[in-house]
Amino acid sequence: MKAWLLKDFGLDNLELGEVPVPSPQPGELLIKVGAVSLNFRDKAIVDGIYEPHLVPKNLIPVSDAAGTVVAVGEGVTRFQVGDRVNSHLYSRWIDGEPGPDEPAWCIGMPLPGGLAEFMIIHENSAVRAPASMSDEEASTLPIAALTAWYSLMDVGRLQPGQTVLVQGTGGVSIFAAQIAAAHGARVIATSSSDANLAKVKALGVSEGVNYRTHPDWEQEVSKLTGGKGVDVTIDVAGGDGLNKSVLATKAAGVIAQVGFLTGQTTRLQLMPLIFRQTTIRGIAVAPRTAFDRMNPFLDLHGIKPVIDKVYSFDEAVQAFQHLARGPFGKIVIKIAG
Ligand SMILES: NC(=O)c1ccc[n+]([C@@H]2O[C@H](COP(=O)([O-])OP(=O)(O)OC[C@H]3O[C@@H](n4cnc5c(N)ncnc54)[C@H](OP(=O)(O)O)[C@@H]3O)[C@@H](O)[C@H]2O)c1
Repeated sequence: MKAWLLKDFGLDNLELGEVPVPSPQPGELLIKVGAVSLNFRDKAIVDGIYEPHLVPKNLIPVSDAAGTVVAVGEGVTRFQVGDRVNSHLYSRWIDGEPGPDEPAWCIGMPLPGGLAEFMIIHENSAVRAPASMSDEEASTLPIAALTAWYSLMDVGRLQPGQTVLVQGTGGVSIFAAQIAAAHGARVIATSSSDANLAKVKALGVSEGVNYRTHPDWEQEVSKLTGGKGVDVTIDVAGGDGLNKSVLATKAAGVIAQVGFLTGQTTRLQLMPLIFRQTTIRGIAVAPRTAFDRMNPFLDLHGIKPVIDKVYSFDEAVQAFQHLARGPFGKIVIKIAG
């Protein structure tokens, strides 16, 4: 089969090659990959800045995929040939709390990913793809949408009528806005761009705050909530801005700490945290059962992923370059017709 192979770190070393089609072992599914979508993680792996010591030689990268089961290994019962499935990043985190070594079993590194004509997924980690979505659309779900869903529904225990704050207009935040709005919540978004705020308002965001023109954006969020703060904040920015997220979130509210776009360290002011009794919860995507619950919700509410551009299989390098430029919505690579 044709597969993109990471020969060494750097996009110049991502090469299209030929490798044998893998054969499914007991419990495994062979998937004809329809499409993959890119995340920051995939780019960081290619660039050699994401756990480089764990990256195997000739890795087939990219974790997020959708495709069709074309063969099954011995003893498979959850799926059959012809089923459409999603990959799930944390292939051994099925339900409940994560184990201590989940990152060692991630699709797309260290396990082979989906940037190939075929891939292997264990039946326990495969998820039925939404019936209402094409493979291109479904491929956007495994990291960005699931992280948003788990943060809002499982960790934030979001109720209709509550208020959510999403930061910026990237993949996680757009899905969070769509899911929260469909669930009957009010969504406030921040962005560096008024044009992007206008775009996310069309997707269910009620109010926008430009964090460039309003560096004290937490005060604007406070005003919009009558001084109370939002019920759930999805923090993708990280860095010292976490202090602003604490102030923008209600007393005893929840901050889902998802990202680190502005920095991996923070100097946290403890007194506001203590007085507001905020819960800050680190998020690393979700267990598979959350994915099982999310896809029927997306079908039910007719939620369509926002895709900036679909590239062909031969254009994988251009797709990575587009990701680096900062798309609005997801970058997809179509693999099979
Ligand atoms: N922990 C997890 O499970 C998990 C899962 C997925 C992603 N992540 C992490 O979450 C972050 C976001 O991921 P993504 O896929 O949504 O990224 P993305 O699609 O690349 O989104 C980036 C967007 O974030 C916004 N942004 C950048 N700096 C900001 C700031 N200081 N304040 C507010 N918004 C800011 C920008 O929006 P505007 O242009 O509108 O300003 C930018 O377009 C990344 O750090 C990623 O690694 C973590």
